This record gives sequence, structure tokens and C-alpha cells, in this order.
Amino acid sequence: MAAGPKAPPWKDVADYCSARSTARCELRRGNAGLRSFENPSTLLPRSGAHDSPGDWNPRLHTRAHALACAVSQGIVTACSIEAALNKSWRSCRSHESPGRESQIVKNRVSLVVLWWLVASVASAADSMRAVVFSGGAFQIQSVPKPQPQPGQVRIRVRAASVNPVDWKQIANLAPGARLIPGRDLAGIIDAVGDPDSPWKAGQPVIAIVTGGSYAEYAIASINALAAKPERLSFDEAAGMPVVGETAWRALVTIANIQAGQRVLIHGGAGGVGSSAVQIAKVRGAYVIATASAAHTELLRSLGADEIVDYHRVGFEDTLKDVDVVLNTVDTETGARSVRLVKPGGILVSVAGAGPAAAQCEAAKIRCAVTGHVTGELLGSLTDLAEAGKLRIPIDRRFPLAEAAQALELNRQGHTGGKIILEVSY
Ligand SMILES: NC(=O)c1ccc[n+]([C@@H]2O[C@H](COP(=O)([O-])OP(=O)(O)OC[C@H]3O[C@@H](n4cnc5c(N)ncnc54)[C@H](OP(=O)(O)O)[C@@H]3O)[C@@H](O)[C@H]2O)c1
Repeated sequence: MAAGPKAPPWKDVADYCSARSTARCELRRGNAGLRSFENPSTLLPRSGAHDSPGDWNPRLHTRAHALACAVSQGIVTACSIEAALNKSWRSCRSHESPGRESQIVKNRVSLVVLWWLVASVASAADSMRAVVFSGGAFQIQSVPKPQPQPGQVRIRVRAASVNPVDWKQIANLAPGARLIPGRDLAGIIDAVGDPDSPWKAGQPVIAIVTGGSYAEYAIASINALAAKPERLSFDEAAGMPVVGETAWRALVTIANIQAGQRVLIHGGAGGVGSSAVQIAKVRGAYVIATASAAHTELLRSLGADEIVDYHRVGFEDTLKDVDVVLNTVDTETGARSVRLVKPGGILVSVAGAGPAAAQCEAAKIRCAVTGHVTGELLGSLTDLAEAGKLRIPIDRRFPLAEAAQALELNRQGHTGGKIILEVSY
């Protein structure tokens, strides 16, 4: 049986260089240099005294490829580059022409810098900063940039907003799981998943996302996306999707509120409440809101007709004959509100469970819950905002790195409007 070809006696370029004379170490210059790295068999000694090149499969990697580019420029030899990278360039000195030493040193240093620069830029292009919750703590981490699939776009996030669902999701995270929080965002499309997409890179948008918006980039389905209203800043626009859609679904889609109806909004100053007050006013309703006294001014500015400070008075003692209740507070608040609703009226819950069906039946009212946001109603909201009829009051802004503080502030339960995370400019 014929003996199989032997592997060459060197591991890689550096090994090859250090073991051979200048003549053998030198690569041919020009494009041949580049080819020699792409095709290792051409890296053989010119004399031809070598073992079966076809079987030589050295582990050529990015570094070797970068070196090949430099070689193709005719700047230096593979030997000198490798030696420079290994911080032992002097070991190759004897292989170089003496008069070129200082130029070679400069070239080596530039090459090393260039190599690191190219490697860093390439890696930065594929990664992004994101807030990652894992092991019970938040960290800003460098994570792979998500890639859009058909039916999706990738958005460079300018601002994200904090919703109670964000900290609730973290609280319910399985042990060992990790999560980038955030559903809401405003930003600029930077890539589309398919060439026929109705959306184009460069368009400013708002979206509801599922893979996390507390990050420099996020993926959105084209069904959960709308053009950012020009009238709103990115910060304001980021506060609109989840709460705006929830308020719209509750008051318009489910309750179908009509002009002249009396609408009670519990938690009128919060994210959902502040959008709901404005939507109810646009529909011509008489709007009553419950809130802390600290939020009276805010609610007046949004158009509320009557404000009940729930710390001071029991709302069920002062209110009656309401057509629609929107409960954004908790299950108990919903149960206490049933008797305020006129027969034939409706109570819609977005927080906690709705009142018991038997209680609603006995009061001859309808009780409903909104369910989850989908993003499909965003267009109605952006139209209102563009017409100057829906604004997003901002309670506080935080940089992305302070997401944990922003979530904690919201968790305390007294946000007036929205808390915004500023992600990029
Ligand atoms: N189903 C869904 O798709 C959906 C979507 C969005 C939100 N939600 C839920 O709806 C709830 C509200 O969300 P949000 O974004 O509006 O929250 P938020 O922005 O944190 O606002 C909560 C508001 O409730 C007020 N409040 C607290 N206790 C109150 C009480 N006893 N009576 C009246 N007002 C009270 C607070 O202000 P004061 O200082 O004035 O009390 C605050 O303005 C959360 O539970 C959230 O998870 C559900």
C-alpha cells in the first residue's frame, strides 16, 4: 500500500517563517501574496523541497487573512508581520534588508494597530449594547445585534419606555433565564427583513417589540409598527405604543364610548390613564379621573373634567351613574366600581382580574378585560398624535445604563405619564 502524504513540518505561518531562511520566508508580493494565504499550498518554499502541499491544512484564521492583505500591498513579509504580532520582530531582523529596518518597524506597528482596529470595528458592527437581566441583576452587556427575518424590521432604538409589564416579566423570570426587558420603542429603521417590505431603512417609527427594547437595536414585526408622529419627539413617541394601544382598545374597541357619556378612569395620571383621558375627550366624553393630588395639574392639562383624590375620599361615595369605567389600578378597585356603573354600562379592566361575572350580571353591566397588546392599533394613535390630540407627558428620563432605577421608580406605582429610557441619539 502506498504511503500517504506527510503533513508539513510547520504549524502555521509563524512557525514556517522562524524555521526557514529569508528566501523561503518571503512571500511573493502583490496579489500573489493574498492568494498565498487563501491557498495555503502556495506558501511553500520556492525550492519545492517540501512535503505534500495538498495535504497541508493549516488553521488559517482572521489574523492570517489580515496579514495577507498587508502582504498583498507589498509592505512586509509574512515573516516580519508574524514576528511583529508576536512582539518578537527582532527575531526576523536577519531576514530583512538592513537599510529598511526602521521603515519595517513602522510598518509592523501600523499593521498591528490596523489589525486591531479592523477587528474591533467588525466586532462592533455585529454587536450592540443592551440591558440584560440575569442572575438577579441588571447589566449593560455587549450582545449580538438581532437580524430581521421576512416580515420584520430592525430598528435603531432612540428611546424606550418603561411599562409595569417590564418589571412584572422580570419578577416572573424562571431561575437561570436571561432577558432584555422592554416592549415600547421609538427609533429609526436600520434594516428590513425582505426586499419587498413596505418599510425602508431610515424611516422613523414606533413599535411594540417582544425581544426587548432596552437595547441599541430591536426587531419589530411589521404588524406592530407605525410611522413616528412628527409632532412628537422620540422620547414622547416611545411612551405611546403599549399604553396608547391599551387605552384605545379599552375605550374605543371594547367600550365604544360615545359623546356625552360619563367615563371614569381609575389611575388617570398613569401611562394608560393619561392616554385614556385624552382619547375619551376626543370622543366627546365627560371624563372623571382618580389620582393623587400631586397629579391634579397634569390631569387638568390633559382635559379631565373632574378629578377625585382617592387618598382623601372614597370614589364610590362621591360618584354614580357612570357609563364606562376604565380600571388601570387593581382588582379591588374594579370590584368597588361595579355599583357606580349605570345598568347597560361597561367596566373594562386592564389591571388585575375583572370583577366576578355574577357581580357584573347582578348590576346589569358588561365587564371586560383588554387582553394583551399586539401593536396592530398603533396607526389610530399616531393619527391622533399627528392631529395634536394625543400627547405623552414625561415623568422622568433615564439613560439606558440606569434602567434598573427607572424600573424601580415605576414599580413604586405613582408614575405621572411615562418614564423614558434614552438609548441613543
Ligand atoms: N393588559 C394590558 O395589555 C396592559 C397594558 C398596559 C398596562 N397594563 C396594566 O395596567 C396597569 C397600569 O399601567 P400603567 O402603565 O398605566 O401604570 P403606571 O404608568 O405605573 O401608572 C399607575 C398609576 O396609577 C395611579 N394609582 C396608583 N394607585 C392608585 C389608586 N389606588 N387609585 C387611583 N390611581 C392610583 C398612580 O398615580 P397616583 O400617584 O396618582 O396614584 C399612577 O399614575 C398596570 O397594572 C399594567 O400592568 C395592562
